[in-house]
Amino acid sequence: MQGYRAQLLRFSSDGQALYESDGLLVVAPDTVGLRKVVDAGPYGAVAARHPGLQVTHWPGRIIAPGFVDLHLHYPQLDIIGAPADGLLPWLANYTFPAEARFADPAHAAEVAAFFFDELARNGVTTALTFPTSHPASVDAFFAEAGRRGLRMISGKVLQDRHSPDGVRDETEQSLVDSEALIRRWHGKGRLGYAITPRFAPASSEAQLRGAGELAARYPGTWIQSHVAENRDEVRWVRELFPRARSYLSVYEGFGLLRPRAVYAHCIHFDGEDRALMRATGTAAAVSPTSNLFLGSGFFDYGAAREAGMLHGLASDVGGGTSFSPFHTMLAAYYVGRESMSKPGLSLAPGELWWSHTGGAARALGLEGVIGTLQPGTEADFVVLDPGATPLLARKSARAGSLDELLFGLIVLGDDRAVERVVTA
Ligand code: GUN
Ligand code: ZN
Repeated sequence: MQGYRAQLLRFSSDGQALYESDGLLVVAPDTVGLRKVVDAGPYGAVAARHPGLQVTHWPGRIIAPGFVDLHLHYPQLDIIGAPADGLLPWLANYTFPAEARFADPAHAAEVAAFFFDELARNGVTTALTFPTSHPASVDAFFAEAGRRGLRMISGKVLQDRHSPDGVRDETEQSLVDSEALIRRWHGKGRLGYAITPRFAPASSEAQLRGAGELAARYPGTWIQSHVAENRDEVRWVRELFPRARSYLSVYEGFGLLRPRAVYAHCIHFDGEDRALMRATGTAAAVSPTSNLFLGSGFFDYGAAREAGMLHGLASDVGGGTSFSPFHTMLAAYYVGRESMSKPGLSLAPGELWWSHTGGAARALGLEGVIGTLQPGTEADFVVLDPGATPLLARKSARAGSLDELLFGLIVLGDDRAVERVVTA
């Protein structure tokens, strides 16, 4: 058993931020050696319950749940900041050529190691991640995540049409490969498999049907894809699937909406789409830096909230411009101002933080597992330095409330504020 003393930020299971200016987090290994939170709260009261506890003290620092990134692409870290008119030319000119290189296992392994270093530097401890269509890219991802003992989710990208040579896969083989990878990696330690049709335009009906069948046969797996990101993309889907009511309902028709299904973007939605998300327990990965960078549009927070649709934050690197959860939360705040039109109504700092930790965990179906630092959850946490830069130190010292402290970090923070990451 081990104690960690510092300022302590946690979340209740319904998303309320809980804060102790002098807190104690107590961690102990479970029967398989996974370190879990056993107690947390004010230092005096918690320490009294654990006489003789070994305590590591980080004065002036903040312990907080590790961040959860609901959607990003590890093979795209080399194309962050590639300018394009919009999504479709960006995919054709930058993304697919970069991803074609992942047929080479050595390249995949090198990028995967860099990727996990970058997640750690930014305080991200769990991520739902796209690799490429090459099984070697999946093996490289899981092998590295497993070595590091991380809770990570990924799965081979399916794209058997409207994709160039080098990334396009073959329908039957893609499904055989996916099933073999599920058996190899899903549930191995903390690793989880996501069935990953890239997006409806890049998969034949046979491939989408096969993906839905796998999702039914392996109900513990995740599903990840993209939907309703860009107007040209939406128009294209309407041409390809003329009988579908909407882009989202294409996925419904193939059994690809269910709990543990996470769709990136969800921008060009109507009320029926949001109701369908809610009814099926499907979650949205909101990717504000990507949507601003590619000019895709603005996620409608007000409507999502009214519809009761599960959602959380994502970097969407490399359409997204930063690995930093602070940058993503700040971009979400900007977007919230745009989409939530009632005066005075925008996203509060505690809400932004929740949607990148416990709220994102809930969207993944990992409520009670990660994201809150509640007793029983896995001890993945970050140690933040609220004095990491001169301006941040000045702002943090003047914070008169938890909201002011969190807002200062969201607006001024980046990887420099992440002093250490501790994983279970
Ligand atoms: N839609 C299909 N593929 C992609 C991708 O790689 N990035 C983004 N942002 N949207 C997509
Ligand atoms: Zn994406």
